[in-house]
Amino acid sequence: MHEPVNACLSGKVFDRRLKKKVSEFSFEVKYKDIAGRIGALTVNGRKIETPALMPVVNVNKPVITVEELAGEFGAGALMTNAYILLKSEELKARALSEGIHRLLGYDGIVATDSGSYQLMVYGSVTTTNREIIEFQENIGSDIGSFLDIPTLPDAFKPRAEEQLRETLARSREAINAKFAVNAGIQGGKYLDLRAQAAREIGESFDLVAVGGIVPLMESYRYRELADIILTVKENMPLNRVVHAFGLGHPMVFGLAVAMGCDLFDSAAYSLYAQNDRYLTVEGTKRLSELEYVPCSCPVCSRHGIRLKELNGDERVRMLARHNLYVTMEEIRTVKQAIRENSLWELIAMRCRAHPKLLDGFNSMVEHSGWLANLDLISKKSAFYITGPESEKRTEVLNARSRMKRVSSSCPVELPVFGEVPAELLDIYPFNSLVEDYGKQRVRDLEKVRALMDYQFGAGAGSLIPGGVRIKRSRATQRIRWLYEGREMIASVRASDHFILPHEKLAVRMKERFERPRLRVVLADDADAVEFVRGGKSVMCKFVSDVDPDLRAGDECIVVDKDDAFVRTGTLILSPMEIRDFKRGVAVRTR
Ligand code: GUN
Ligand code: ZN
Repeated sequence: MHEPVNACLSGKVFDRRLKKKVSEFSFEVKYKDIAGRIGALTVNGRKIETPALMPVVNVNKPVITVEELAGEFGAGALMTNAYILLKSEELKARALSEGIHRLLGYDGIVATDSGSYQLMVYGSVTTTNREIIEFQENIGSDIGSFLDIPTLPDAFKPRAEEQLRETLARSREAINAKFAVNAGIQGGKYLDLRAQAAREIGESFDLVAVGGIVPLMESYRYRELADIILTVKENMPLNRVVHAFGLGHPMVFGLAVAMGCDLFDSAAYSLYAQNDRYLTVEGTKRLSELEYVPCSCPVCSRHGIRLKELNGDERVRMLARHNLYVTMEEIRTVKQAIRENSLWELIAMRCRAHPKLLDGFNSMVEHSGWLANLDLISKKSAFYITGPESEKRTEVLNARSRMKRVSSSCPVELPVFGEVPAELLDIYPFNSLVEDYGKQRVRDLEKVRALMDYQFGAGAGSLIPGGVRIKRSRATQRIRWLYEGREMIASVRASDHFILPHEKLAVRMKERFERPRLRVVLADDADAVEFVRGGKSVMCKFVSDVDPDLRAGDECIVVDKDDAFVRTGTLILSPMEIRDFKRGVAVRTR
């Protein structure tokens, strides 16, 4: 477990040796679903909400102006190429004298790339790692890159190894850069190399970029893409912001976000437009094959299918605008799915647009064992069976392992889940699959005890005494409150029927289950303990230990270092995330 960080470090950060201002960088998670998250990212005082798309601006020929990107398209971050600036005498001089923000006329986050993409496409570049790093520092990039070497997907392993070795050496030269380093992770299609790169890069950088994946996206090799992204995620701390380099096609956003990607950049909106390609969330259409436009963005509403008749530059401009509208729209759709906890359902639908995308989806499903540790135990949206993959979903794995804690005299057969104790049918995810609760004749006491076992472990149900008074809501007739004499020992959450133990019951649970079970242990910090006792949320940085069997969304017992009861609350993040994050809320107390 990490040590709590000193609160005075959270403002501007100074490199002690250089006494120069280095970049300020912070990231915290607000909402989550599977490994996807809505986060707050701040770089140099500039804030964006993630997942976010950074449209790429080509300073030489912007197809869509920076003003339009910032205004109409609402881009909070842009990406441009530092190598292109460096190679033009005029732009180089202007960038150095005005700084990148003034040059672009933009006050959001500016990310710059290093020329690695040119290296991938043309095989060589005429700069060095040190030169391009220093240039990005001098023009004031918020986010910059070292000159990583993108390995082509079909490179032989010795070549991939050699390129990774050089990339890692170059990453070390960027460790003290004065911008937030967008640290490229290479390794081609070799997962052991990706894992090694992720471990080394993940140790030193806050922002990591899965590189060399554009060719996989363009050739629909989504199975390999999914394996690469998840291998990277599984091998680095969860508080690292993950950028998918060049992944700009809206058909993959849902899948990539569900696996834990936070940032995307897109030159695709413009590159595809230059080839007369019309992007949709289901795939790419050639403009010439369209008889109807399936979209109602301002461009499609105005021009309709007459988009085809526009000439030359105007057609490219309009196509690029349409492409960017659908790209930005899909980011919002994915974010809404995270808020509703319906990301599995969204990607199940998106990935059926193409068999190769479905391959990628199935590849992600193979990693469900790991993803289940991160996912929520209870969700706002109903669990819909979408296909054969549903059996391997994170919620099913979590529910199956918890059902083993419950002994039932009355099991019911449910699709996907198999035999489920009838006592549990009121709660997520089973309640999505059962139409008539009334049919299950289970006594209230048995139901409540089974829920306790399911949520907290075998034996927790026996902590509810036989004489407990179980009260129902008058409006819904569902169980809502548990009393022992006059004292309420638990309530039942109306939204999902989970039991919320109050202090008396929580203390009993704490005595029944040994530390660290069911617990979030606060660090040795009297102020933090007082804060939480007073009803404030538990911040990640004040947690010294968490029961790894808990899940985000679970009720937990907050204790101090001596295991004394402090509060009950709901876990906002998973135990693995709480371990890795130093920012954000770990537990919302009750
Ligand atoms: N743009 C697209 N792919 C890459 C990559 O692998 N590295 C860098 N630096 N930029 C990219
Ligand atoms: Zn459109």
